[in-house]
Order: sequence, then C-alpha cells, then structure tokens
Amino acid sequence: MDAAEAAPEASTSGTGAAPAPTAPAPTVVVDAVDIVYRVHGAGPALARGAATAALGRILRRRGGADAGVRTVHAVRGVTFTALRGEAVGLVGTNGSGKSTLLKAIAGLLPVERGHVYTDGRPSLLGVDAALMNDLTGERNVRLGCLAMGMSPEQIQKRGPGIVDFSGIDDKGDFSTLPMRTYSSGMAARLRFSIGAAMDHDVLLIDEALATGDRAFQQRSQARIRALRERAGTVFLVSHNNKSIRDTCDRVLWLEHGKLRLDGPTAEVMKEYERFTGGKS
Ligand SMILES: Nc1ncnc2c1ncn2[C@@H]1O[C@H](COP(=O)(O)OP(=O)(O)O)[C@@H](O)[C@H]1O
Ligand SMILES: [Mg+2]
Repeated sequence: MDAAEAAPEASTSGTGAAPAPTAPAPTVVVDAVDIVYRVHGAGPALARGAATAALGRILRRRGGADAGVRTVHAVRGVTFTALRGEAVGLVGTNGSGKSTLLKAIAGLLPVERGHVYTDGRPSLLGVDAALMNDLTGERNVRLGCLAMGMSPEQIQKRGPGIVDFSGIDDKGDFSTLPMRTYSSGMAARLRFSIGAAMDHDVLLIDEALATGDRAFQQRSQARIRALRERAGTVFLVSHNNKSIRDTCDRVLWLEHGKLRLDGPTAEVMKEYERFTGGKS
C-alpha cells in the first residue's frame, strides 16, 4: 500500500532499453478492486439508533455467528491507473461508490479483492486529520499538522493561517475552545483547513466534505486549485459538473460500484449527463 520509500524513478526501468524520456509515472494503481462493507447487527428491518449499535458491538465482541451481518458490495472490479500530473474526476449518481473508492485509495478502507498501489502518501482532504474533541481548535491544528508530518517551525508559521482559513473564529473566539463546542460544520471546516495546509503527493478531494457557507466554499475552491497545481495527482469527487470540467483532464464514471467509463473529461461528461438527463 505504502510505496513512499520506493525510489521515484525506479518504476519502469528493467531492460535499460527504450528510456522513454518523460513518460509520466503511475501514482495510483487500482487493480481489480472489490470493496464490501459488512453491516453488523442488521436484521432485515433493523433501524440504526444507539441501542442497535451497542447491541451490534456486543455481538461482535462475542464473536457470535454472522447472524444479522449484511453486506454491501460498494465497489466491483474497478481497475485504472492514474499518472503523475493528472487530475481525475470521479462521477456517478448517489451511492455509486465514489467516496468508498477514495477511502480505499487513502488506505482507510480494506479491499475485499484486488490491490491498490500508491506512490507517495495519499491524503483524503478533510478526513485524515483525526481531531480530538476535548482539545481546543488551536491544539487540534497542531496535532493535525504534526500528523501530516509538519515540523514545529512550520506549524508555528502556518497555524494561525489555518485557523483564519477555517473561519471558526468569525463568530467568537472558538479556536481557544474545545472542539466539542463546535457545530459539525465548524469541525468539518477546521478539518478541511488543516488538510489543505499542506502539499500532497496524491490528493483526494471529496467535495461532499467541504461544507460551509459560500465564502468558505469559495476559499476552499481556490485552495483546491492551488493544491492541484502542486500535487502529484488529484482525485476530485464533485456533484458540480462544472467543477469537474474546470478541474479534471480525465473522468472515471462509477455506477453501482462498477467503472462505466474512463476517458477524457469532455467525452465522459457528455455520456454521464445524457445518463442523468442533464442533472447531476
Ligand atoms: N459505512 C458503510 N457501511 C455500509 N454501507 C456503506 C457504508 N458507506 C457506504 N455504504 C454503501 O456503499 C455504497 C457506496 O457508497 P458511497 O461510496 O458513499 O457512494 P457515493 O460516494 O458515490 O455516493 C452505497 O450503497 C452505500 O449505501
Ligand atoms: Mg460520497
């Protein structure tokens, strides 16, 4: 999964012959991947709810038989290779497996079958930062930055900018209050801001995660554009077809977990929009 230590140039040299001068290197290889969720403690008509979740945990701890385990086959036999310098859009109707695929590329979800290879460290913007509810926003910025590998000096320099970007202090001095006092939107904005503070080899953006008011969304769009220019490879999930068209050279269209099309943005979006009847 993690090929960060592999020498970047060592990929395709084998024979020494035909040294294709600037052949772009693959950064993400997804090879015949299937992803299956297991939902524990779910009888056919069982609702969620806290009691249900607790019961599910108990049953699992006991290692009980698989009674009530349902599976959701979210990604089916998906194969593609992304190259350095590419911006790849991911489209598909709701529940088609886009977020699931990004999480697997980020290494946050195991695959059932197949393989995901990445060169460099992939980051799923907004999710990677595992923040702590009892710490203040400021402390969480520090923690998140350390987790991304920033040095204390870098954090000192960029920390205040991250808080400003998130806008959590716009309506009071929230950065000095514990995260548990934040609305979910504020927490999401802070998480996004931390992730966006660094350049990434493989940047995974699920726009569903970029919450916030219009001003924040505009700030984050601009930031995403800047990150894109410096990232090795970008994957973008967006419900905004214009944003896909503006950002991506190539688009993967997933439907029911299967890769339906993979090609140049204009071609794939034309087919996708025909499929959705112009809506997204
Ligand atoms: N944590 C989960 N547990 C079980 N099923 C899930 C979970 N997350 C997503 N799914 C299911 O997997 C499928 C793909 O979901 P998702 O990747 O979120 O789609 P998309 O991002 O394209 O809307 C859907 O059927 C969804 O209901
Ligand atoms: Mg999604």
